[in-house]
Amino acid sequence: MREIALHILDIFYNSLQADSSLIKISIAVDTKKDLMEIKIIDNGKGMKKEFVNNVLDPFTTTRSTRNVGLGLSLFKASTNRCEGDLTIWSKEKVGTIVKAWYKYSHIDRQPLGNMRDTVYIMILTLGENNLIYSIKKDDESFVLDTRKIREEMGDGSPLTSPEIMGEIKMLLEEEEKKINIS
Ligand SMILES: Nc1ncnc2c1ncn2[C@@H]1O[C@H](COP(=O)(O)OP(=O)(O)OP(=O)(O)O)[C@@H](O)[C@H]1O
Ligand SMILES: [Mg+2]
Repeated sequence: MREIALHILDIFYNSLQADSSLIKISIAVDTKKDLMEIKIIDNGKGMKKEFVNNVLDPFTTTRSTRNVGLGLSLFKASTNRCEGDLTIWSKEKVGTIVKAWYKYSHIDRQPLGNMRDTVYIMILTLGENNLIYSIKKDDESFVLDTRKIREEMGDGSPLTSPEIMGEIKMLLEEEEKKINIS
C-alpha cells in the first residue's frame, strides 16, 4: 500500500517542474466531519483548459521519458476508493490547485505516512523556490514557511546548510508528535 505522503511528493514535483516559485501544501483533518483534505497550490506555468480536462487520464503527460503520467491519476484513484475525490483547477501563467480528499476513517484509506521526511526532501529540492507547509487536525495546527526561515537567517545562506536542516528536522519531529495524523 502506498502512503499518501508519496502522492503528495509526486504532486510537489509536478509543481516544481512547472517552474513554480511558491508551493503551498496543506493537510487538514476534521475528525467531526470525518474528512482529510490535501491541497497543493502553486504559482507555476499552469495548464491549458483542454489539457486540464484530460490530465487525469494517464495518457495525458508532457513527460518525455515515457508516455504515461501517473502522479495525478494514481492520487485520484486512491481517493475514489475512500469516498473521496481529486479536483484540479489550473490557469496558464497563474498556477494550479490540486485538491484531494478522503473519508478519514475509511478502511481503505492509506496511511498519511512520513510527512516529516517528505517535507525534508522537498526542502532539499526547492532551490531558490519556497514552500509553505501546513498541517492541521481539529484545533491543532502547524505551519512551516521557508520564506520566514530565509528571512530569519538573513544572511543568504542556503536552507540546505546542515545547521538549518537540522533545526527544520527537529521542528518537524516535535510537531509530528503534537499533531498525530495516521
Ligand atoms: N502543477 C502543475 N502545473 C503545470 N502542469 C502540470 C502540473 N501538474 C501536472 N501538470 C501536467 O500534467 C501532466 C500529468 O501529470 P502527472 O503527475 O499525472 O504525470 P507526469 O508528471 O507527467 O508523470 P509522473 O507523475 O508519472 O512522473 C504533467 O506531465 C504536466 O504536463
Ligand atoms: Mg507527476
